[in-house]
Amino acid sequence: MRWILVLLAAILGTVAASVAGVDFGGEFFKIALVKPGRPFEIVTNVHSKRKTETIVSFNGEERVYGADAMNIEVRRPQVAYSQIRRFLGTSMDHPMVSSLTENEYFPYTLTQNLTRGSVALKHNNEHVFLAEELAAMVFGHARQITNDFAEGPVKDWVITVPMYFAEPQRQAIIDAAEIAGVRVLSLIDENTAAALHHGVDYVGLENGAPERIMLFNMGSTSLQVSIVEYTTRVVPDGFKKNKTIVEFEVLSKAWDETLGGAQFDLRLAEKFANEFNTKLKNGQDVRKIPRAMAKLRAAARKTKIVLSANEEIPVVVPSLHADMDYKGHAS
Ligand SMILES: Nc1ncnc2c1ncn2[C@@H]1O[C@H](COP(=O)(O)OP(=O)(O)OP(=O)(O)O)[C@@H](O)[C@H]1O
Ligand SMILES: [Mg+2]
Repeated sequence: MRWILVLLAAILGTVAASVAGVDFGGEFFKIALVKPGRPFEIVTNVHSKRKTETIVSFNGEERVYGADAMNIEVRRPQVAYSQIRRFLGTSMDHPMVSSLTENEYFPYTLTQNLTRGSVALKHNNEHVFLAEELAAMVFGHARQITNDFAEGPVKDWVITVPMYFAEPQRQAIIDAAEIAGVRVLSLIDENTAAALHHGVDYVGLENGAPERIMLFNMGSTSLQVSIVEYTTRVVPDGFKKNKTIVEFEVLSKAWDETLGGAQFDLRLAEKFANEFNTKLKNGQDVRKIPRAMAKLRAAARKTKIVLSANEEIPVVVPSLHADMDYKGHAS
């Protein structure tokens, strides 16, 4: 599809109400707010952060979100749902779903919702949540953050989705947003949204030749790469002047839906677990203990981020299991 930016700008210029652009990432969601006639702003959450963890945890009946929900995950991982996007519009035997419990040690009890044909999760052995319901809870939180930031209700959303999402996954996102009480104007591929953003200030090459760029988007769950070609054309604007039109076309795209930051976290957590297991008796495996594994995963995530600016760091997880600490280092 060829996107013509000047047309898009004209359409957005006529938007009468505010629109939220929601990047519903596997690990973090981010929101841009477009108010009529104003440059867009990034919505900040209750902790003044521009990204919020995609998770809902339960404290009894109470639903908890964002960083607070992450704190619950390391204490009670069975009631913390942080991998919601992977359950949407798919089946229990899809490798990206079965891998969560089989290879990534998430303590979820999954079932198949036969009516909708999608994955559902057993909560506390007493309630079953559809994947869409859990996503709707997170969307409800996103809506709250957005409305607080905008100082008024923002009903219309544009949501970005991975380029590899099939129709049932896209529909599940729309259903979840509608359960949360927002109207989905459209879904747009994440990289196309980035290409659009790059094109807004694009001035073109001096010789007017087309220019190709590569968009490399590695998130927490997946890697998506696109080759985009930008061209500029000068046309009369109807008022004896000329204006420049920017067009772009996504020439090709490729992805790996299994390669992202969470895989780095998992590799590190496995290393920590192997080291800690040598302290355990009877061939016990700390990976099978949900709370310990959640702590190791959190420690791995933190270690990885610190390692992007440091050569080597000590890693300590106090009281990991059986009153023993994990002590190691990573480089
Ligand atoms: N300094 C850093 N060094 C290494 N990894 C980092 C750093 N900061 C963040 N990350 C990782 O980046 C990932 C989050 O990126 P992002 O917010 O783009 O993901 P996402 O949009 O939620 O995921 P996806 O697009 O795959 O659904 C996480 O895995 C996080 O640990
Ligand atoms: Mg992302």
